[in-house]
Amino acid sequence: MKKYCLGIESTAHTWGVGIVDFEGENHSIINDTFMPEKGGLHPAMVREHHLHCFADVINKSLSDARLSLRDINLIAFSQSPGLGPVLKIGALVARMLSQILNIPLVGVNHCIAHVEIGRLMCNIKDPLTLYVSGGNTIVSAYESNRYQIFGETLDLAVGNMIDSFARDAGLSHPGGPKIESLASKSEKYIQLPYAVKGMDLSFSGLYTAAKRLLESPKFNDKYTLNDVANSLQETAFAMLTEVTERALAHTEKKEVLLTGGVAANKRLQQMIQYICDEHDTRFEAVPLKFAGDNGVMIAWTGVLRYLSEGGHEISETIINPRERMDQITVPWRIDK
Ligand code: ATP
Ligand code: FE2
Repeated sequence: MKKYCLGIESTAHTWGVGIVDFEGENHSIINDTFMPEKGGLHPAMVREHHLHCFADVINKSLSDARLSLRDINLIAFSQSPGLGPVLKIGALVARMLSQILNIPLVGVNHCIAHVEIGRLMCNIKDPLTLYVSGGNTIVSAYESNRYQIFGETLDLAVGNMIDSFARDAGLSHPGGPKIESLASKSEKYIQLPYAVKGMDLSFSGLYTAAKRLLESPKFNDKYTLNDVANSLQETAFAMLTEVTERALAHTEKKEVLLTGGVAANKRLQQMIQYICDEHDTRFEAVPLKFAGDNGVMIAWTGVLRYLSEGGHEISETIINPRERMDQITVPWRIDK
């Protein structure tokens, strides 16, 4: 008989519920995402959003999978990293379900889940991963029983940087897809700060310079918003590509995986594809549906951990808003 895991994603704006079976087949993916009318994410408002919709999303996910709570064998939830007040809602609901149903509970690191869903969906074994989203910018690969970090942002995450610029340009959240569309209409490149420091990246100077271009008297005279969008993307993505290529040369991995919400961007995909071709390396981008935050990636990573080391005790399921992906071991990756 099939065994099922229900996964809860609750690190930031998305309350996501996913159901997978222990073989990795996906049975349901339902998201309810908080959209701020303006400005960034206020944890108290996101928490209210999640508290409002959590039961509804769980019920929809179960009915989508044609299952009832009694068919679920394992509960997984995002334990780290993320917004503390928001993580707590996921942890609370997950603990409650596990105790009421008397089934095991597993806490999952959200960043590792982005890698694991990519490995599953793209049928890829041992990739170098470029994980780019609103909250994270990380180049990582498996080495010595951990997902080691080879490069990361020192300040803003690339998705957040693009969203902030888009907001300054009067575009609604999320700005990433809108900036992609505007950028595709321009071929003009305006020089912007390119900041790669060792293997790490810094996007704050780029953001400030792009914002200044919008405020300059030359805006809409010498160049347009499309041109600035194009220059911003070209600069940010070239930085990401440089660090990814160097990590690829260092690790000698034979596969590259692009994941996180920004993985949807066709121009970024094109640039990473280019270096993969140069290095005779397979390139995969996680399918759109699974690239952003979702409960399926949490459920699947929960299954992997549970099958390799069992469930967590309640005392081990305290949230950890700042945990890095290289702080924990990934026992399911050890070659037996
Ligand atoms: P995390 O918690 O992992 O940091 P997140 O909360 O940012 O993730 P995701 O759904 O993984 O959530 O990513 C959302 C980000 O992806 C937003 O910054 C959004 O603008 C960006 N994004 C989505 N589509 C595109 C695109 N086509 N081009 C660029 N950025 C995009
Ligand atoms: Fe995410």
